[in-house]
Amino acid sequence: MQLSNEELKVEIDRLKKKLDVTVVAHFYQRDEVFEIADITGDSLELAMRTKADDSEFVLFCGVGFMGQSVKVLSPQKRVVMPKIACCAMARMIDSLYFDDSVKFLNDNGIKSEDILPITYINSNADVKAKVGEMGGMVCTSSNAKTIITKALEEGKKILFVPDRCLGQNIANQMGLKSMIIGQEGDPKECDILCYDGFCSVHQLFTVDDIAFYRKKFPGILIATHPECDPTICDASDFVGSTSQLIKYIADLPVDQKVAVGTEFNLVNRLRQKNTYVLSSTKPECPTMNETTLEDVYITLKAIEDGAPINEIEVEDKTQKWAKIALERMLAL
Ligand code: 13P
Ligand code: SF4
Repeated sequence: MQLSNEELKVEIDRLKKKLDVTVVAHFYQRDEVFEIADITGDSLELAMRTKADDSEFVLFCGVGFMGQSVKVLSPQKRVVMPKIACCAMARMIDSLYFDDSVKFLNDNGIKSEDILPITYINSNADVKAKVGEMGGMVCTSSNAKTIITKALEEGKKILFVPDRCLGQNIANQMGLKSMIIGQEGDPKECDILCYDGFCSVHQLFTVDDIAFYRKKFPGILIATHPECDPTICDASDFVGSTSQLIKYIADLPVDQKVAVGTEFNLVNRLRQKNTYVLSSTKPECPTMNETTLEDVYITLKAIEDGAPINEIEVEDKTQKWAKIALERMLAL
């Protein structure tokens, strides 16, 4: 018999009280899932707060790389995911594509020892491990500028994977020269070499959407996530991670209109009035939306029954190097 959402919430509450489990959810989760979480936040906050949590089980509602990062940072924890949904951007790169990018730079006269790789946290553990082995580190949308500033002190070329938009946006903010690997340009002339990956959800926002809102509501502010195309971020009043966007909007006067360029569930939850989704389509993240309340219940029930499902495992060598790459970020 199928339980209603109200019945599921009661059961989830009972299981959470009984089991040694912390439920974690990213802002892009469906509202009903987000509401039952113990820890919520942007990617960086989730990585840090979950690392500090001491429950035996972490039930992670998000996309695969997020649950994997918890397991990498705290291998003693048992991490389960109601849906092991893979972020579309993380799926665009694996360790072989990473090696190809290094080879491309080598073929263009840049030696491996002169490359410092940085991977956006939206990548799988095998890519983080490659980055860690080459002396590089992880960044998130909220700390990318700090991490790149630090990395540049080594005087090397930065290989930034997998998000070309985040890489280019930070380069533009810092007045650095960037190019997308495989596209026109001389890599030797650039500070940041970006892998050609992107988020399909954040590609939905267009300059026409911005023009439409600016014309319709003179004085409106445009706030966007740095996974949006540089043309969008350059035309925005504020660019920030999910947490930074939430704070920026919360601090605005109630009558200030703002159009927000990030995932639908987050924007829809922001404010009752004067907040608009910066798109003519509904920018939902399909994989974040896969997790339902019923999935959470089934996953908790499996722990209660002593047979956890969808448990995250990371192979030892990958875990070791991916952890080093993540910890270099956390140390900063
Ligand atoms: P944040 O780190 O800003 O939460 O972003 C995660 C993400 O996947 C955005 O698409
Ligand atoms: Fe990945 Fe984009 Fe979804 Fe974020 S919004 S989880 S980057 S597919």
